[in-house]
Amino acid sequence: MSTKKLYISSLLGALLVHSLMVELAICSSNFTDQLALLSFKSSINFDPNNVLSNWTQETNFCGWAGVSCSRRRQRVTGLILRGMGLQGTISSHVGNLSILQVLDLRNNSFHGHLTDEVGRLHRLTSLMLMDNTLEGGIPMGLHRCRMLRAVSLAGNNFSGSIPKELSTLPFLRYLVLPENNLTGTIPPSFGNATSLEVIALEQNNIHRRIPTELGQLPNLPRISLSFNYLTGSIISCNF
Ligand SMILES: *[C@@H]1O[C@H](CO)[C@@H](O)[C@H](O)[C@H]1NC(C)=O
Ligand SMILES: *[C@@H]1O[C@H](CO)[C@@H](O)[C@H](O)[C@H]1NC(C)=O
Ligand SMILES: *[C@@H]1O[C@H](CO)[C@@H](O)[C@H](O)[C@H]1NC(C)=O
Ligand SMILES: *[C@@H]1O[C@H](CO)[C@@H](O)[C@H](O)[C@H]1NC(C)=O
Ligand SMILES: *[C@@H]1O[C@H](CO)[C@@H](O)[C@H](O)[C@H]1NC(C)=O
Ligand SMILES: *[C@@H]1O[C@H](CO)[C@@H](O)[C@H](O)[C@H]1NC(C)=O
Ligand SMILES: *[C@@H]1O[C@H](CO)[C@@H](O)[C@H](O)[C@H]1NC(C)=O
Repeated sequence: MSTKKLYISSLLGALLVHSLMVELAICSSNFTDQLALLSFKSSINFDPNNVLSNWTQETNFCGWAGVSCSRRRQRVTGLILRGMGLQGTISSHVGNLSILQVLDLRNNSFHGHLTDEVGRLHRLTSLMLMDNTLEGGIPMGLHRCRMLRAVSLAGNNFSGSIPKELSTLPFLRYLVLPENNLTGTIPPSFGNATSLEVIALEQNNIHRRIPTELGQLPNLPRISLSFNYLTGSIISCNF
């Protein structure tokens, strides 16, 4: 074999290996999505409206109720199941839906903890879990979802304090946390949260005054705090 032929055949070999690897990567990732969704389903113990009845391996998961996918890559970008009466926990496998942008499970009966794996959703823009019975802390890892624009955990039983790391989210506009069991204060670091438009905290046990640092924001966010025990002068500027 001439050097040239050898060169060409090894080049072709490398290309073949490369395309096989690309294919494997694609297959393994949409397989991971399917596995994550099946695990999500198996953590639900009551589905009164049978919305998950077509979540079976016989059909492509992109057609399952509540699931939306990216057109090209057939990966899960949205999981939206509102007011379906679902009871169960939110499987930590949801953290494997690595290109998920919208997780909206509002108005169901999800209980238990929101685990730190949610922080693996690096493309997540919207986390809507209001009106469930989730409890425990707001996961620390949530600040690793750098694309987050809107978070609502209202009407659950979240406890502990507002993680100060959430103030580092560059695009966060809405942080909506009323009707939980949160304690502590608004972290002063929110004075750096320049994208923030709304921070809602009614009906928690948040104490002490609003940090003066928030007054330094170029566009003061709307802060709603009624039924709390906060004092501070900037409330009046915002209503
Ligand atoms: C993964 O994607 C490929 C190509 O888009 C598709 O043919 C296959 O059915 C998908 N796998 C699953 C488990 O959905
Ligand atoms: C599954 O159910 C949803 C809602 O009822 C429906 O829109 C969707 O087309 C169904 N998918 C399949 C594959 O049957
Ligand atoms: C919540 O879901 C229930 C069905 O489970 C529905 O009847 C109710 O209207 C929903 N509430 C809101 C505020 O959407
Ligand atoms: C998905 O997530 C779970 C729990 O977070 C983990 O145990 C599992 O190994 C992950 N990976 C895959 C490929 O399912
Ligand atoms: C808040 O926590 C207390 C004690 O931990 C509990 O009694 C109360 O029911 C909780 N509030 C809500 C709204 O769940
Ligand atoms: C809220 O969580 C606390 C524990 O943190 C628990 O004592 C209380 O019963 C829960 N309240 C509701 C309404 O689930
Ligand atoms: C805002 O960020 C700057 C630079 O990272 C830091 O020095 C400052 O302490 C922060 N302000 C607040 C209120 O956390």
